[in-house]
Amino acid sequence: KSGEKQKSGLVLFREKWYDYLIGVSMQQEGPDDHQIPLRRLRSMRQQTTRISPEDISRQLQYCREVAALSAARPAQPLAFVDTYGCQQNEADSERIRGYLREMGYGFTQDEEQAQIIVLNTCAIREHAEQRVLGNLGALVHVKRRHPEQIICVCGCMAQEAHVAEKIKQSFRHVDLVFGPHALWRFPEFIHTLLTQRGRVFQVAEEAGSISEGIPVVRQDRVKAWVSIMYGCNNFCSYCIVPYVRGRERSRDPQAVLAEVRELVEAGYKDITLLGQNVNSYGNDLDIGYHFPDLLEDIDKIPGEYLIRFMSSHPKDATYRLFDVMAKSSHVAKQLHLPVQSGNDRVLREMNRRYTRAQYLDLVNYAKRVMPGLVLTSDIIIGFPGETEAEAMDTVSLVEEVGFDALFTFIYSPRPGTKAAAMPDPATREEKQKWFDKLLEVQNAMSAKLHAAYVGETVRVLVDGKSDDPDYPLASRTEGNRLVRLKGDEALMGKFVDVKITGSNTWALYGEAL
Ligand code: 5AD
Ligand code: SF4
Repeated sequence: KSGEKQKSGLVLFREKWYDYLIGVSMQQEGPDDHQIPLRRLRSMRQQTTRISPEDISRQLQYCREVAALSAARPAQPLAFVDTYGCQQNEADSERIRGYLREMGYGFTQDEEQAQIIVLNTCAIREHAEQRVLGNLGALVHVKRRHPEQIICVCGCMAQEAHVAEKIKQSFRHVDLVFGPHALWRFPEFIHTLLTQRGRVFQVAEEAGSISEGIPVVRQDRVKAWVSIMYGCNNFCSYCIVPYVRGRERSRDPQAVLAEVRELVEAGYKDITLLGQNVNSYGNDLDIGYHFPDLLEDIDKIPGEYLIRFMSSHPKDATYRLFDVMAKSSHVAKQLHLPVQSGNDRVLREMNRRYTRAQYLDLVNYAKRVMPGLVLTSDIIIGFPGETEAEAMDTVSLVEEVGFDALFTFIYSPRPGTKAAAMPDPATREEKQKWFDKLLEVQNAMSAKLHAAYVGETVRVLVDGKSDDPDYPLASRTEGNRLVRLKGDEALMGKFVDVKITGSNTWALYGEAL
């Protein structure tokens, strides 16, 4: 009903606009035809596109042309980049902001002030998609007040053909839709919109692209993200990521090393290497260079900084990785190793390709070579066909491992994935009950592990302000545990020793020494 309302409202002010399609970008089939056959996707493995330096210079030329238009305006135009989802999206938004800065735009958090609004979206669970669609719907009214505004949707949802189709038909206030593969062409799209009227949809399915030299505007001055690879080949049966982010493709090690070196020289202290599965870094490069080699080389860069990475797939994590972590001086003794389930049948149905015993063996080895290792994980409760006993196997694994923290999710069907077609007899209430049990066990574990810090002296990196007036600073241990801190703002961005004076399930409390 509300869709109808939006549609009729929009026709009022956009009726003369026509659709301008760049390339073969839209699929016109019905809503259920968006699934890309698995075989075809897999065959795209070797077809990732390396974007040439000339192509990026052409985009920077578009930036200069748009900047000339920006300079002719009475005031500097502003852009609002709204990011949903994971760190990869945060990193992509930093590149979108980089391009926008080159196009002469400043930044705002207020959609009423923005000439360009970019929603960088997430498709991992239905809830994430609904939030985006709700916020996108609300922008109808904003745009009615500012008809010259350009509204863009990018990220993982944009790459789902049924979403792009829905936006095309029902969200006619959206001017530009582009998937992660086409991010490098953002200036060209904005140039088209500013110089010709119309809408741009660039959501063609492809194995993916990889590009160097896109400018970035980083959001933080202490912490930085460095993407080392893009895409995923794993096809876990519940997951939409391989469909929207394409096949695995690794950046050239020299480019990654140069970026980390630059960040360290610029004073960044906490650098996270990003990839859907960093443990398969280098497999597509065919140069016999893998993730542990990259970690070893990064560790040689001199300076006072920490290196983290995420995510790691257990099937590709090796003893060698943990040995390299253990002997390095900059790699944080922290590991995010998503297990998803503690039951072998469910793990098989999820297509995870490891067993509970193999996972336990890995974490036991990692803990042995890195005493004090901070270990976190992702868990899905209520996978199709999961029984109560199988969910309780996950709870018992969590008790056995003793994770410092967990990211827990109730299974959300993603259209087009294998799991979405599996029978799913358990009710929402049952799944919620299993989920609550898991949280109860984990919260008790986190509180216990945190309490053990009280009285200890630990080194932290002060990285922000806290909302607690008694503990005005936020900081992180090497293991990435939050420490709320009494201390002076001058400590911001510095490593300091702190005495831990208190704790609860979610945080530690301390005083700078
Ligand atoms: N439903 C619930 N959780 C999911 N995740 C990925 N896909 C789904 C889904 N369909 C979770 C996994 C993954 C994390 C990033 O999100 O636990 O590790
Ligand atoms: Fe999704 Fe599995 Fe790839 Fe992670 S490894 S992005 S869960 S398919």
